[in-house]
Amino acid sequence: MNETTANNEQTPAGVGPWGLKLAGVGAALPPKVLTNADLTAWMDTSDEWIRERTGIGERRLGGTTSGLATEAARAAIEAANVSPDEIEQVILATTSPDYMLPGTAPAVARELGIDCGAFDLQAACSGWVYGLVVANGLITQGMNKVLVIGAETLDRMTDYHDRGTGILFGNGAGAVVVERDETNQGQLLSWDLGSNGQHVHILYSEHDGKIQMDGREVFRQAVTVIQRSATNALERAGLTVDDVDLVIPHQANIRIVEAAWKRLGFSMDKTEMVLEHTGNTSAASIPLALDSALTKGRIDSGSTVLFVGFGAGMTWASAVVRWA
Ligand code: UT7
Repeated sequence: MNETTANNEQTPAGVGPWGLKLAGVGAALPPKVLTNADLTAWMDTSDEWIRERTGIGERRLGGTTSGLATEAARAAIEAANVSPDEIEQVILATTSPDYMLPGTAPAVARELGIDCGAFDLQAACSGWVYGLVVANGLITQGMNKVLVIGAETLDRMTDYHDRGTGILFGNGAGAVVVERDETNQGQLLSWDLGSNGQHVHILYSEHDGKIQMDGREVFRQAVTVIQRSATNALERAGLTVDDVDLVIPHQANIRIVEAAWKRLGFSMDKTEMVLEHTGNTSAASIPLALDSALTKGRIDSGSTVLFVGFGAGMTWASAVVRWA
């Protein structure tokens, strides 16, 4: 398949009889903070260099993936004002599960006291957006409420003595209760999911290993796929850059976002960033930024929100949501 065409034909506006509502959002960050200044104690780097090259000031360490996922999910369930037993499916996007086997989602469901389907989704930093699209499919098939979580404990996979990767990654979780919207006001207007397995070795980790990365190549590929994926999603929704009220990109490196936005014509003013205080939290980064945008009141009923994820695989995923 041509790299530029994603294999997901879809109706541009409206994807079934049901609308979709992101009814409640929650976030969790472990309390331990690792600042850039802390890193300089054992690494030849500086706060100035890290901020300038990445936009990161600090990252969080500690916790477990299931623990952070559960904390974020509880907050999302409370914000959605639903009872946990109304959740019909748990999707946990993670690249750092508690165990190799089993998946972490069943443990999260159990902690929440809910008895429903639960599975992990591994699409690296694009995972939460993949999960949103899967949730939309389940809702189109008749489900009412799906919990889509992104949670990571990347500190277990990061060598904090390696200048190329140790400055980037941190832990966190974000969760969203995705509901059927009978009014049809809220919609997943379009999406774009893609991958290119040719680039597996630019960002990977062996079992029980640490993250290995060709940073420059990841940077280069990321800018290209963001531009292509966001363009595909907007075209499928019949929208232009000017129609988007807020963009929530994967929080990897502010320069990646700025470079892609320059090509696309987006402004940073319309972009929610939490990277400075979280570092790169892979699948958790987009729901963490969504939680922040809602807290700041940046999303209203009728807002058009574009999510753009990209990461190891390589994978990428964009989705355009009209807010209920
Ligand atoms: O979810 C996706 C996850 N991955 C990413 O987002 C990674 C994308 N890539 C990046 O973010 C960047 O490539 C990095 C931040 C990892 C590196 O930044 P860069 O601008 O690509 O730096 P570079 O690797 O081209 O290195 C430039 C210089 C080199 O020195 P010389 O050879 O010019 O003397 C490096 O040795 O910067 C040096 N350097 C550092 N200096 C201070 C590399 N890392 C550091 C560091 N502190 N941490």
